[in-house]
Amino acid sequence: MHESDLPHVDLESMNRDHRDQVEMINAVDEALEAHDGSETTLRALDEAIEDFAAHTREHFSQEDDQMRRLQFPAFTLHTEAHVNALSHMDGVIDAWKQDRDPEALGRYIREEFPAWLVRHVTLMDTVCAQFVAGKAH
Ligand SMILES: [Fe+2]
Ligand SMILES: [Fe+2]
Repeated sequence: MHESDLPHVDLESMNRDHRDQVEMINAVDEALEAHDGSETTLRALDEAIEDFAAHTREHFSQEDDQMRRLQFPAFTLHTEAHVNALSHMDGVIDAWKQDRDPEALGRYIREEFPAWLVRHVTLMDTVCAQFVAGKAH
């Protein structure tokens, strides 16, 4: 996934987080590509997945906090989207740890999550950033 696949929003801190998010998606993608069935490459892949999951969780919770603090009108809708995305992510990671199916992981990290992220930033983060940036002035 390329950083330019994501629309830019009105908050630089959020754009930075999204850029980091793309980097971590790509790190998992590359670690998956490099995985040759050995313990070493499997460990590197699991670490990349952990980093991606931790960053995603942290980013969502920062957005949730900002929206809560400023009483963003679409707070519930937006935080629910985060909750659903996290529970899907956790499900995929659990399945990966159990089945070690590279195709399922690849589908998620190369197709499902990037598509979700573009949609989410376009439909939800853009409006959220506009609101937060407006309140900051
Ligand atoms: Fe976001
Ligand atoms: Fe969001």
